[in-house]
Amino acid sequence: MTRKTYKIAAIGGDGIGVEVVDACLVVLDVLADRDGGFALNVTNFDWSTDRYKRTGEFMPADGADQLRSFDAILFGAVGAPDVPDHLTLWGLRLAICQPLDQYANVRPTRVLPGIQSPLRHVNAGELDWVIVRENSEGEYAGQGGRSHPGLPLEVATDVSIFTRAGIERIMRFAFKLAQSRPRKLLTVVTKSNAQRHGMVLWDQIAAEVAQDFTDVTWDKMLVDAMTVRMTMKPASLDTIVATNLHADILSDLAAALSGSIGVAPTANLNPERDTPSMFEPIHGSAFDITGKGVANPVATFWTAAMMLEHLGETPAAERLMQAVEAVTADPALHTPDLGGNATTRMVTDAVVESLRGRND
Ligand code: NAI
Ligand code: MG
Repeated sequence: MTRKTYKIAAIGGDGIGVEVVDACLVVLDVLADRDGGFALNVTNFDWSTDRYKRTGEFMPADGADQLRSFDAILFGAVGAPDVPDHLTLWGLRLAICQPLDQYANVRPTRVLPGIQSPLRHVNAGELDWVIVRENSEGEYAGQGGRSHPGLPLEVATDVSIFTRAGIERIMRFAFKLAQSRPRKLLTVVTKSNAQRHGMVLWDQIAAEVAQDFTDVTWDKMLVDAMTVRMTMKPASLDTIVATNLHADILSDLAAALSGSIGVAPTANLNPERDTPSMFEPIHGSAFDITGKGVANPVATFWTAAMMLEHLGETPAAERLMQAVEAVTADPALHTPDLGGNATTRMVTDAVVESLRGRND
């Protein structure tokens, strides 16, 4: 059998980002070994806030270019208590996503076996969403500035940028994803009552693109009302598309409704595959639990399954998710964010054991 080798860039980053990526590499190693069909050639990068403190840069100036030769990037988190968050985010995560044009951020949400949604009326299968977040422009385009620092007339602007090209490509991606899922259902989220330019363009392009996807049922929601629908009628939703800011917020809500932010994965995709895509848990570096060995690694394991899927290793991705779900099904293997006492190590060992135990 030919053994395909994928080049993976691993960037743990800061805080629990390093802990969960290390745990994930252990699991991936066992999976590749067990599967036999593929191998991973992992290169670790120390790009982080520590590096910034030592050298003045989170990553080398040509960092994003160095990543171009990889098949995928596995990322932890970036952020430290003593460095402003806008420096860390723009210095590392956005410094990778933007030049590599990873414009589709995909965030699946499901209540995994054994995990209790805080919504008491939600049964298994009733909360199964994929949120598509526009990942290149909108409110996080980086346009804006500050003038007259410190004076009473000091001014600061962040300009939301919405382009026809940017909206159309994310809309096509979202409709296609909705079409690939059994319910073929898409909800387009905006705030086009209050924001009457960019958001109206967003609605208009959704209606245009919808004409090419006549088998997809779609509807529109204002973002504020969307929080109510997600909470009160979760089963009425399937695929969701929203702007960079709106989907950032809605996906944290989605993660919480699925039981914990510690289980929520994400993929930053360049769907055309011109550049490598980046896979990361949704959560941040979680200073409050860093070094305690209790970070939930499930988000990163699920993230790795998305990475394998993207690489075309679907059976391995499925095997990994089955192992993860076998582990979440056992409350004794829940970390404190899920109300349990398990450690990162215990969960990792259990997933490894589950992968090794399989003999199909
Ligand atoms: P956070 O996601 O790091 O933590 C929020 C809460 O969730 C904390 O109580 C934390 O302990 C808990 N939590 C998060 N992940 C967990 C896991 N895997 N297992 C168990 N509990 C978990 O968000 P926060 O506190 O707002 O941000 C901390 C730092 O991370 C900041 O510097 C922020 O800028 C950065 N950040 C980075 C992100 C990234 O790199 N993609 C995303 C979000 C935040
Ligand atoms: Mg966020």
